Amino acid sequence: MKEELEKFKQQVESFEIKQNEQVEIFRLKFLSKKGELNELFEQFKTVPVEMKKEMGALLNQVKQKAQQKWEEAQSQFESNSSKDKDSKIDLSLSSEATFDGSRHPLSIVENEVIEIFKKLGFVYAEGPEIEDDWHNFSALNFPANHPARDMQDTFFISADIALRTHTSSVQVRLMEKQTVPIRAIMPGRVYRNEAISARANCFFHQIEGIYIDEKVSFADLKQTLYYFIQELFGQDVQVRFRPSYFPFTEPSAEMDISCLLCKGKGCNVCKQTGWLEILGCGMIDPNVLQASGIDPEKYSGFAFGMGIERIAMLKYEVKDLRTYFNNDVRFLNQFSAE
Ligand code: PHE
Repeated sequence: MKEELEKFKQQVESFEIKQNEQVEIFRLKFLSKKGELNELFEQFKTVPVEMKKEMGALLNQVKQKAQQKWEEAQSQFESNSSKDKDSKIDLSLSSEATFDGSRHPLSIVENEVIEIFKKLGFVYAEGPEIEDDWHNFSALNFPANHPARDMQDTFFISADIALRTHTSSVQVRLMEKQTVPIRAIMPGRVYRNEAISARANCFFHQIEGIYIDEKVSFADLKQTLYYFIQELFGQDVQVRFRPSYFPFTEPSAEMDISCLLCKGKGCNVCKQTGWLEILGCGMIDPNVLQASGIDPEKYSGFAFGMGIERIAMLKYEVKDLRTYFNNDVRFLNQFSAE
């Protein structure tokens, strides 16, 4: 047994591990279950009792030696192979291409509109998309069961709660919360139960604005909106006001601009009229001021609201509103990230 142990020791010592593969060969030969060390342990069982102590110590010694050699070789080749991996990085290669995101065209237009009104001193305000009846209707002078409620096809969640049909609801929240003068612009998503077509969708985006102070007049309203349209579309665009009806404004008007797609000749976007309705506006009805705790004897104000999609369609000459919601990257990538 002693001789065999010596032989084993020598073999372990003389085994040269020069390559990674030899680490495993070494393990199989000496240390594995079918390896030589295991055989020695088997033999050890038959060693006479009086020899056991000496042989056992020797056996453990050679075992440790083999184990140690294997572990050292293993760690040596591990670090070598990671060095190998590093050296495979080719620093002369160009870096991977990165792709810039782009802002959604509706966000671009929304930001532009906000910037224009900011110059006139309007501040930004937001409100919830799920609204109660009071803020979406009642406070805006839509009495219960009044046919004016049918002007906007509403998605109801319960009898009292609905998806807001316009951002006028934010006007109410502002009037309730803030003190006069109020000059604010309110962008947001709104929902209407409409048949989806090139001109209508079940949700779209609005920007509404209000200005309330002493002696605010219709002239202020007109001048503000003229300025806005000229800033957005340039000096050449034609504008007209038509009398209209909204429960929350009196008098009310709709503002049209000449169709930029067909230059006023008539196309499917402007329904062959040459004009595009761009926003609704009017002087805030005294009932609305009163409902929000503002004295209509002392203060007056104007309000306006517009669809962002409509403006974006004109600006980018997009004929179908649905293009904005399809998320086709070929369309979206045409817009810049700025
Ligand atoms: N809230 C109206 C709509 O959604 C737009 C509007 C706002 C009209 C403010 C007048 C004044 O159609």
